[in-house]
Amino acid sequence: MGISPDEFRSALGRWPSGVSVVTSLGREPVGMTVSAFFSVSLAPPLVGVCLDQKSATLPVILASRAFGVSVLSTEQWALSERFASKADEHLRFLGLPLADVPGARNPLLEGAVMHLDCLLQATHEAGDHLLCVGSVQIALSHPGEPLLFHGSRYHRLGALG
Ligand SMILES: Cc1cc2nc3c(=O)[nH]c(=O)nc-3n(C[C@H](O)[C@H](O)[C@H](O)COP(=O)(O)O)c2cc1C
Repeated sequence: MGISPDEFRSALGRWPSGVSVVTSLGREPVGMTVSAFFSVSLAPPLVGVCLDQKSATLPVILASRAFGVSVLSTEQWALSERFASKADEHLRFLGLPLADVPGARNPLLEGAVMHLDCLLQATHEAGDHLLCVGSVQIALSHPGEPLLFHGSRYHRLGALG
């Protein structure tokens, strides 16, 4: 008994996530939209991102052994689309202000609600994706509401009660 890709995709659409742009620095800054970002360990501080093996950002991360994470705010939903679109991939950073984070190895997007600067600690092959574990060197939080993604649409937080 197996499940079809459609069944799998549709079931996973019920899982809400935040939206991050994972970046790295080669000759130019590179970055891509990622929902598969998660905390892994508190001590030492580790996070994970799961990246498509075909991603153009991935080889840069593997070469630099570093990546950054910018968790997008609700005002930045257009950036999520920009960093996911294959059209004008090389223009993703054009005119985009970067955050001034002393000591950061990776480009971090201004206006994000969280910035992490990580060294690549380990990778694990996981089907058509590569699980990248990062050792967090810098962690900053900023005011603002995090952008959410659920059921192929963007959302904002709403408190219960
Ligand atoms: C909301 C959203 C979440 C995404 N999450 C992921 C993810 O977790 N992992 C991934 O590999 N691609 C994810 N993608 C797709 C990539 O952003 C997309 O394939 C991008 O073009 C890859 O860029 P690159 O090939 O320049 O690295 C997501 C796209 C969107 C819109």
